[in-house]
Amino acid sequence: MKMGKKIEKIFVKTYGCQMNVFDSERIEDSLSNFGIRKVKEPQWSDLILLNTCHIREKAAEKVYSELGRFKKIKRENPGIKIGVIGCVAQAEGQEIMQRSKIVDMVLGPQVYHRLPDIIQKIQNGERVVDTEFPLEDKFEKLPQSKQVNRPSTSFLTVQEGCDKFCSFCVVPYTRGAETSRSPEVIVREAMELVESGVRELTLLGQNVNAYQAQRKSGELLDLAGLIEEICVIEDLKRLRFVTSHPKDMTDDLILLFGKEKKLMPYLHLPIQSGSDSVLKKMNRGHTVKSYIETIEKLRYLRPDIAISGDFIVGFPGETEEDFSLTLDLCDRIKYAQAYSFKYSPRAGTPAYERDDLPEGVKTKRLTKLQEKLKIHQKEFQRNLVETVQEVLIEKCGKFSDQYIGRSPYMNPVVVASPRNIIGKIIKIKILSSNGLTLSGETIG
Ligand code: SAH
Ligand code: SF4
Ligand code: F3S
Repeated sequence: MKMGKKIEKIFVKTYGCQMNVFDSERIEDSLSNFGIRKVKEPQWSDLILLNTCHIREKAAEKVYSELGRFKKIKRENPGIKIGVIGCVAQAEGQEIMQRSKIVDMVLGPQVYHRLPDIIQKIQNGERVVDTEFPLEDKFEKLPQSKQVNRPSTSFLTVQEGCDKFCSFCVVPYTRGAETSRSPEVIVREAMELVESGVRELTLLGQNVNAYQAQRKSGELLDLAGLIEEICVIEDLKRLRFVTSHPKDMTDDLILLFGKEKKLMPYLHLPIQSGSDSVLKKMNRGHTVKSYIETIEKLRYLRPDIAISGDFIVGFPGETEEDFSLTLDLCDRIKYAQAYSFKYSPRAGTPAYERDDLPEGVKTKRLTKLQEKLKIHQKEFQRNLVETVQEVLIEKCGKFSDQYIGRSPYMNPVVVASPRNIIGKIIKIKILSSNGLTLSGETIG
């Protein structure tokens, strides 16, 4: 077998959700233990990885247009290897290799711990496809490097996969069944992150509040229990978790928002539609009423809590009446932040076979919904003006002496400071809001 150029430099481009962002960071981090460092431009690398998302049609199309760009780079640097990983890789597997001859590897999201071996293989000229769902924990097998001075905030995956099978969604097929990582491993990793400078953790999972795992002692632990355990870490100042499913918002978890000071008053709780008839067609497993009750309980315990959501408009069978119920729901909840999408039919999902609404109808509804969401989002931001917020400073701003951090409610806050305040939680008086970002001055 012929030996190719040794892979020493890697470039990773990431699409999709925070799960993919976490996976990419972890891949870069752990490969550094094998002497492979990350570079900022694809043409400087020996291996380009494209971490892909399959959630909507447009997201998946990007892979092939991106591969077209990499083809040019490869023409000038023929030694560069190219890998497609993530959810499109899982969904399309071998087909990607057939469609694009420049691809050397296709890996699904559950086999990243095999990367060091696979890199050896592609270095030797093999083309590798691996879309298995092995039972082992990929991150336990893929060591985390001992970085000092990590950023002040970090993700930590605690759960992956989904068993909910919403009728529009590819995630149960691309990420596999719900699995939860062991609490001992999670707490150890959380402690290591905090020791290396992290002050805020966001626990990640496709269905993070479906977290359920056994301790070594055999005792079962849910997300509420896991959060309590992680919050004991003294130098950890803030905790968040994302994404939650309304069906799995247990009372124990809701109660934590009233008593656990480190748990930030922000919750991303997608509902998708404000109509029960659409929710049923979507197979969401909850009603508008049960969703509102959950929010009311949360607001009773934590009146200032910021609620964020996801919406799909133009789902097959959605009438004008259904859509207006979604608008009504938004007026009722007043989301601090929300993502909204036109329904995108995905092959292999139950809704794929149903009649798709005309594009024009979807576009009109999306515009209307987004206008409403924007009003509430701006209002939420405006209400913070003149208040004092504790802001965790994450990075430098555009100008010298400028820093950017986040409020407890996730709003970006810009502030000036003569000294480096990254990693610190600073009291800031909010002076203005430009709709997306807040500006303020340090006090005390
Ligand atoms: N696990 C999360 C969401 C994962 S996908 C949850 O259940 O809430 C992120 C968002 O993408 C979804 O909340 C949904 O709003 C959107 N989405 C998923 N499939 C979609 C599709 N086929 N068309 C349009 N939007 C979709
Ligand atoms: Fe997709 Fe539904 Fe699972 Fe969320 S809960 S990942 S929308 S199937
Ligand atoms: Fe996309 Fe996969 Fe996340 S399909 S949204 S990258 S789980």
